Amino acid sequence: VSHCTTERPPETIAIVGAGVVGRGWVPVFARSGHEIRIHDPSPGQLESARDWIESFLLSSPAVRGHSPKLRFCAHLEEALQGATYVQESIQENLIAKRDLFERLDRLCEAGTLLCSSTSSLDINDIATSTAHPGRCFTVHPFNPAAVLPVVEILATRAGSGTTTERVAGILRRAGQVPVVLHRFVPGYIGNRLQAALMREALALVDAGVADADAVDALLTHGLALRWVILGVFGTNHTNADHGIREYYERFWGSYRELIGTLAVETPAVEGPMIDAISATLEKRFGNASIPEIARWRDRLVLELRKVQLSTLPPAGTAG
Ligand SMILES: NC(=O)c1ccc[n+]([C@@H]2O[C@H](COP(=O)([O-])OP(=O)(O)OC[C@H]3O[C@@H](n4cnc5c(N)ncnc54)[C@H](O)[C@@H]3O)[C@@H](O)[C@H]2O)c1
Repeated sequence: VSHCTTERPPETIAIVGAGVVGRGWVPVFARSGHEIRIHDPSPGQLESARDWIESFLLSSPAVRGHSPKLRFCAHLEEALQGATYVQESIQENLIAKRDLFERLDRLCEAGTLLCSSTSSLDINDIATSTAHPGRCFTVHPFNPAAVLPVVEILATRAGSGTTTERVAGILRRAGQVPVVLHRFVPGYIGNRLQAALMREALALVDAGVADADAVDALLTHGLALRWVILGVFGTNHTNADHGIREYYERFWGSYRELIGTLAVETPAVEGPMIDAISATLEKRFGNASIPEIARWRDRLVLELRKVQLSTLPPAGTAG
């Protein structure tokens, strides 16, 4: 699924670091016809990224027929030549990212955008090694990026609205949905929301309220079905006849009380608790392998995404 247009000249994209996340970026940019260079200093990683990318592209109707322009580069300099946009995806380590950004800043042309896939570091800290922090951004994807379109964007304090819009525009044209943050917060938005839900889910299992299947059923057959359409605030808005103001007036008091009872202590995730969760999941999935389950998951997400994009919201609804 994509909203790609080819009105603008294609970018030259350098993917630096070809692990799980780096290779996952390739189909995103490939489906909008960009030229892509993929660099990883480890020959083994570059080779396995090539295998993964070929098999993903072959099975993806959104990319088939585009004959993607890919080049696998053993040297960073080769990958950066003429690059207009760099997506750094090396391991989550501040020193390593700082060191790489210093080189990227030195080797790239003046207008090249330098984006990091970091999921927990502050781009302001990474960009201290560069002479041009205004062109450095966090562009945080979810995995795999070609299946989950949302990306979190954060500019540095030296960044401008115009440059942020340039980054967002490139991602939007590649079929992604950019969400721009105004300042850094650990875990950005997505992982904070996941962490809050994960903490409570683990606490419920830990307290013996229900098992992992029951907690997941509440989401997959319940809450998540509305969230996929409306999110948290949109769901609240439609759960009172007159909308969000009435919702807060009527229900906020009891939610506030309930929030007071939520797990504050993070439960110890170890030993018998891991055994119990693992046994529940083994029973649920039988002998299917994890890659098989993940492929099934991704196929269904893409189907849901098609439905989500094909159904018009009620008149007057933006977006
Ligand atoms: N794994 C996820 O689900 C996920 C999701 C979103 C964002 N992220 C972020 O994406 C980044 C990459 O995560 P990952 O899970 O793909 O890691 P990974 O360990 O799978 O891959 C990292 C790759 O970077 C390569 N590398 C190391 N130093 C390099 C250098 N100087 N230049 C080029 N390549 C280099 C390694 O050889 C390796 O192939 C991290 O910042 C992580 O926080 C991860």
